[in-house]
Amino acid sequence: MNQEECKMKKSLTRRDFISTASIVGAGLTIGLPTIACSSDGHLAKPAILGGPKAFTGNWPDWPIIDQVDEKELLDVLKSAKWCRLGGNTASRFEDEFKKLTAAKHALGVSSGTNALYVMLGALGVGPGDEVIIPPYTFVATYNVVVLNYALPIFVDTDLESFQIDANKIESAITNSTKIIMPVHLGGTPADLDKILEVAGKHKIPVIEDACQAHFAEWKGKCVGNWGLAGGFSFQASKNLNSGEGGAILTNDEMFSKKCYTFHNQGQGGSAAAFTTGSGTRGSNMRITEFQAGILLSQMTRVVTQANKRIENADYLTRLLKDIPGIMPAKLYKGVTKSAYHLYMFRYDKTRFEGLDRFKFLDALQKEGIPCSNGYGKMNKDAYVTDLAKNPYYLKIYGEKTMSEWLERNQCPENDKLTDQAVWFFQTMLLGSKTDMEQIAEAIRKIQKNAIEISKT
Ligand SMILES: Cc1ncc(COP(=O)(O)O)c(C=O)c1O
Repeated sequence: MNQEECKMKKSLTRRDFISTASIVGAGLTIGLPTIACSSDGHLAKPAILGGPKAFTGNWPDWPIIDQVDEKELLDVLKSAKWCRLGGNTASRFEDEFKKLTAAKHALGVSSGTNALYVMLGALGVGPGDEVIIPPYTFVATYNVVVLNYALPIFVDTDLESFQIDANKIESAITNSTKIIMPVHLGGTPADLDKILEVAGKHKIPVIEDACQAHFAEWKGKCVGNWGLAGGFSFQASKNLNSGEGGAILTNDEMFSKKCYTFHNQGQGGSAAAFTTGSGTRGSNMRITEFQAGILLSQMTRVVTQANKRIENADYLTRLLKDIPGIMPAKLYKGVTKSAYHLYMFRYDKTRFEGLDRFKFLDALQKEGIPCSNGYGKMNKDAYVTDLAKNPYYLKIYGEKTMSEWLERNQCPENDKLTDQAVWFFQTMLLGSKTDMEQIAEAIRKIQKNAIEISKT
């Protein structure tokens, strides 16, 4: 916006300007940027330089609580049946989750980590096996592999989508590859067509880490339905939330029985479930009736919330795409719905006068916009690389294999991504259109004043 245009808006108060922002926002399609002007006709100063905050509203609270939640919880409380082995709330939740995802089998478990752990256990993963995972993920994806004394093999990230680079999976496959475990990062499906093609060619099961991707769809079908099975998390930050909790979806009846048995101390489900595979192993990873109750009530509003996130994320993408140096994560063609657990984009500091990403994040936060730099370089983190010194791993695999493992785990594209990524959170996408416009406005302000901000 030039000085002349700013003068035209001079008589508007900041609040007036914000309230007309949707018109200005719509104007974006004809090339009008949404940049706030202060009453003296100059571009508004960024908050970090003492100007007014771009964000004037309140971000939605999370979790959202209403009376249905109370009723479901109290019903469980009063029933005196708090364990799934005595009650029916967990199975009611599973039925509802199946209905919403069109999967044949659903199993509630105690967490997303345990959803993954149970699936790996049911597949009999153990020492000597390799499991392919992306480096750009929450550490749980890695932990469940290592808990089984298997080798996590990192396949580099596709910089544009933030997802595992499906084109690089085949070259990571060896005779020891037991599972391919892509993550639908940020709630957006990874490239399932390519992943399933290579997995099918090598007859390796795909376990989807869909912990962030509730009700996300690939070609019109919910994630968790595409591989052998998928795992979901209901931890407090998630789009479907019971504080802690998780679930497994699968369309394979025998596999669903194996999962049930594994998660129930190796008992029940089907005696036949462990006649092949992992032998007799198991633990207690059952969901509680309380968790299932709160999930049932959350599910009454989950579709409306999911649609709202998509609407806002699409709008935000339209706004941000016009800002040089801001590159929203690409969605593959097969993505018909993202869960938008995260709104992710790359920040190119060269288009912001070299303004450091952490300074950019700081300036954004001072505008009232919560944000994060996202994951670090997990494959290079000492928590991971120390595995090469782990005495049990040295005993199982030997020194040579473990030092080769360190060599194999190079992920140069992921290194780039972790230096550029910026995240917003799912709760922000439950806000208003004006909120999205104010995010874009904040970024434009920072860009315009990048040199000054660099000096702070
Ligand atoms: C990608 C991914 N995998 C696994 C998990 C583990 O889920 P939970 O925290 O419920 O154990 C999470 C949770 O944040 C996750 O984001």
